[in-house]
Amino acid sequence: MDLGLKAGSSIFLLQMENNHNIKNILGLKLPTDPRWVDLAEKTVEEILTDHAYCEQKAATSCISLIQRYNDKEKLVQELSPIVTEEWGHFRSVLAELKKRKLNLGRQRKDEYVNELLNFETKGGSEDDRLLDKLLLCALIEARSCERFKRLSEGLDEKYMRNFYRRFMKSEAGHYTLFIELAETYIEKKKVRQRWKEWLEYEAAVIKKMDVRGDRIH
Ligand SMILES: [Fe+2]
Ligand SMILES: [Fe+2]
Repeated sequence: MDLGLKAGSSIFLLQMENNHNIKNILGLKLPTDPRWVDLAEKTVEEILTDHAYCEQKAATSCISLIQRYNDKEKLVQELSPIVTEEWGHFRSVLAELKKRKLNLGRQRKDEYVNELLNFETKGGSEDDRLLDKLLLCALIEARSCERFKRLSEGLDEKYMRNFYRRFMKSEAGHYTLFIELAETYIEKKKVRQRWKEWLEYEAAVIKKMDVRGDRIH
């Protein structure tokens, strides 16, 4: 697999925006079911609530990584601003809910992430565990990015299409950052091999999940 991407690369973003087959760029093996956008459009309150919690979890995952891998300077330096960014995303979604006079609502069980967590190595070396944690984050960012792209293209309301387009760009940068961090600490060949396994597994998870409009994943 040739990732061929650099974090924040404008060429990458341009390619992504012009490419309808985003799964090929992000490496995802299964595109989102086209019915999903229509379902999501009908349940804006739920999708915004779910999205808000996804952003919150993204921020807390970065904090956990910083706490656990405090000795890895690049990781600490690179993920610190991402915490702020993800929290900013949470606040944007919260503001959107408020504008619509909607409440945040309750956090739902995150079936998608729970299924992915089952694939995380429990044994193995310290490097193996770090690799899986970084690839898990990269994968969630990639799928989120793909979903935001679908929303940015498929929603009727122009304002909401632009709203999601901003998230799409941001999550694309995060996806590349997590891959880059993995390649900083672990041999590239090993990263590529394990990434392939994660992609296969994720496709199987998506395939068996119901298509529901009240969830980002
Ligand atoms: Fe985010
Ligand atoms: Fe993100």
